[in-house]
Amino acid sequence: MKIENNNQRGFWGSRLGFILAASGSAIGLGNVWKFPYIVGENGGGAFVLIYLLCIFIIGTPIMLAEFTLGRKTNLNPVGAFKSLTPQTTFTGIGYMGVLAGFLILSFYGVVGGWTFAYVVKSITGSVLSFTTPKEAGTFFGNFIGNTGETLFYHALFMGVCIAIVIRGIHGGIEKACDILMPTLVFFLFLLMIRSLTLEGAMEGVTFYLSPDFSKINSNTILIALGQAFFSLSLGMGCMITYGSYLSDKESLTSSTVYVVMFDTMIALLVGMVIFPAVFAMGLEPTEGPSLVFSVLPTVFTSMPMGQVVSVIFFTLLAIAAITSGISLLEVVVAYFIDERGWERKKTVMIVGFGIFMFGVPSGLSFGAMSDFKLMNMTFFDHVDNVASNYLLPLGGMLTAIFVGWIWGTKNATEEIQKEENVFGFPWVQCWEFLIRYITPVAVGTVFLAKVLP
Ligand code: PHE
Repeated sequence: MKIENNNQRGFWGSRLGFILAASGSAIGLGNVWKFPYIVGENGGGAFVLIYLLCIFIIGTPIMLAEFTLGRKTNLNPVGAFKSLTPQTTFTGIGYMGVLAGFLILSFYGVVGGWTFAYVVKSITGSVLSFTTPKEAGTFFGNFIGNTGETLFYHALFMGVCIAIVIRGIHGGIEKACDILMPTLVFFLFLLMIRSLTLEGAMEGVTFYLSPDFSKINSNTILIALGQAFFSLSLGMGCMITYGSYLSDKESLTSSTVYVVMFDTMIALLVGMVIFPAVFAMGLEPTEGPSLVFSVLPTVFTSMPMGQVVSVIFFTLLAIAAITSGISLLEVVVAYFIDERGWERKKTVMIVGFGIFMFGVPSGLSFGAMSDFKLMNMTFFDHVDNVASNYLLPLGGMLTAIFVGWIWGTKNATEEIQKEENVFGFPWVQCWEFLIRYITPVAVGTVFLAKVLP
């Protein structure tokens, strides 16, 4: 069922635009904020190797499956499943995806707001007066506990996402990513050069690149797999939605390879920025989630040209967050446009505002509502937990099962091979094997390990 005549939908203007937008979705806080601190906590190089394995064996097949579903149906996740099977139970995967998009953006927007705030605070210099990470941590804690300030930046972040998505696929999302993604790469290279030329930087490079397998256990593998998932924006129909704006001419296999490589390259580069700097300044890489917001400002304070570096770094983090935020918003918006026949402008405003409002208690979870806990977890923790640890892996596993067994790899490969298959190696057969047998079992294992005590 093609619905090119739905003028509220739109298409990508070019293949590069699509690849940049999908990469923009994938490259986000997951790469720049989360990846470095979990590498730091889990022993460096060895963890990186396992992460790479998860990306290639599990992430890549699911991404191709999602792109295929999207391009085949030209619909949002709910419509995509609905149009391929009369069994309504599978439409549930789509609804789960839309819900996950709503939930993830509600707290992602909060952290996105923090990145905006740190750009401003770098410009004014207020995050550049720390001698120890502890001081920087206290500053960060005070900031995220300040209701008025965090709400302001949270609203600003959501406002920017709304302003982009309201302009549609080609005129909004694609244009923004065409400008923002190259900027991000440029900034990243600048930072890497600065970092690697610091005295003592090599110690960080060694930590990052030489694997120490004694640090690896079953939990590490689960963390690596979960990170692969979140980082590639999989399991919630985001790549179905982006694939749905793709024309039949474009190659799905090579697009998948580009997006995966781009996302992975950025994560690896971010490591090359952060670890040399952290080690050169004699700090520890095992700081946890505050690595970026409290260890780095300490590093910037004592580094030549630290303020410029700080402004660039947090701008980069903000850009990465925006291009992911808009993809999350687009999933929910596409559902209302396709399935409810809503008009884009109205949809973006209502959905964007709704997500912001739902995100407010998450934003307050570090201050005014920090004592409001259920099972020892704040509102923020619960939303993150439900979406990232339950909805995403479940969605990914069911998508693999759906494509591998219900819709079937025969139908899927037909769609994939619409465009010429340029590779000599039987990649598509490999993919069929992975998506049917390996991916569902691997994701199922992670999922069970998280659900079972
Ligand atoms: N991939 C994004 C990141 O790394 C997060 C994301 C997850 C975006 C799921 C869209 C969908 O930050």
